[in-house]
Amino acid sequence: MKKSLKSPKSLYGELTPPGDKSISHRAVILNSIAQGEAMVRNPSPGADLLATISCLRALGVGIKEAGDGFIVRGVGRDGLKEAPDVLDAANSATTMRLLAGLLSAQPFLSIISGDPSLRSRPMGRVIYPLRMMGAEIWGRERDSLPPIAIRGGRLHGIDYPLPIPSAQLKSAILIAALFAEGKTTLQEPLPSRDHTERMLRAMGADLKVSGNRITLTPRDTPLSPLDMSVPGDISSAAFWLTAGAIHPNARVRIVNCGINPTRSGIIDVLKMMGANLKIENQRMEGGEPIADISVESSRLHGVEIDGEMIPRLIDEIPVLAVAAMAAQGTTIIRGAGELRVKESDRIATTVEELSRLGGRVEGLPDGIVINGGMGPVGGHCHSHNDHRLAMALGVAALIARGETVIDGAEAVDVSYPGFWQDMERLSEG
Ligand code: S3P
Repeated sequence: MKKSLKSPKSLYGELTPPGDKSISHRAVILNSIAQGEAMVRNPSPGADLLATISCLRALGVGIKEAGDGFIVRGVGRDGLKEAPDVLDAANSATTMRLLAGLLSAQPFLSIISGDPSLRSRPMGRVIYPLRMMGAEIWGRERDSLPPIAIRGGRLHGIDYPLPIPSAQLKSAILIAALFAEGKTTLQEPLPSRDHTERMLRAMGADLKVSGNRITLTPRDTPLSPLDMSVPGDISSAAFWLTAGAIHPNARVRIVNCGINPTRSGIIDVLKMMGANLKIENQRMEGGEPIADISVESSRLHGVEIDGEMIPRLIDEIPVLAVAAMAAQGTTIIRGAGELRVKESDRIATTVEELSRLGGRVEGLPDGIVINGGMGPVGGHCHSHNDHRLAMALGVAALIARGETVIDGAEAVDVSYPGFWQDMERLSEG
């Protein structure tokens, strides 16, 4: 799908972002192995979550649509069944990696594959520690790429320093550790999103966090089902927070948005850049902090980001690069080599596509340098089938001097199917 966009005169209004994708995956996976029924409200409407749900259904879990979400009928610790076919994780690495952890502990054969983008993403990072725990698990290209095949069984706990700050890797191991004999201890090089830890604790797991160490001691009793209302996804809200800050005539309010500190780097960096951004009505929902966030037209300036900040905004870097194009001065993002193995090589694709729109943008091996001050002029660009790049290009179009045409605009369906409609609702004139 091609999308043609022009900068609107103003951006004005209030909206609720779709349910958080990371939290939704965890809510359906962990409730699937709990004993009893749970209601998951306001789940992510994206294709990634649907992939997780269809894999779990193929493994024998009853998940049915009800009201504003899903009822998950948990099968307990021993209730999963061998799937009759290859499991399809579609575009979703979270699905593949978290299920790899779960299936490593199940006494049957599973094969998980996905679309061409997912089949080029690194899986050695989960295969290696899951094998250390006792799983028989293989991947293509000497155990580095999907499809992956798993003959699960009895596992034992491990003491493992995570080589990268990846919440998907951490979560895959913690899910496997629920079924292992003996405790598992992980050390994180930098903090990554902690939704799995929060949810596991709320469901009765014995999980302790001390500094950068996470210890899970398995219990014989199954997890308790957890009803929850999923907070709005800050990674989706990030597009409107950025748009509101860089559009010259904007006032946008985002309600019910997750602000978990392991995810809220975009708020901190937009503020560091000078954004006129307010956080109101902070409260808790399903064990996660949420708030309403307002943002108004702002004069931004360039910043340098690196280190601990990176995992806190890893998915927001393409749209942050758009903010940096509109800012005065230079923005330097480093320590983000993981971007090279996301849905696309997001360093290469962000640099290529923002350059097409008039950006003065340069790639580093582990980051991006953006020379601001000019703002986008518009032009013809492509999403590379990457949802976050498609939406970042959409935000650039909102302030571009000329028309912007985005090919592959349907990529947004992966996490935010209503993105273009929400853009229309906020745009005036
Ligand atoms: C996610 C973790 C991050 C993030 C991805 C979702 C998760 O990936 O980029 O969009 O739900 O755990 P890594 O854990 O690989 O960094």
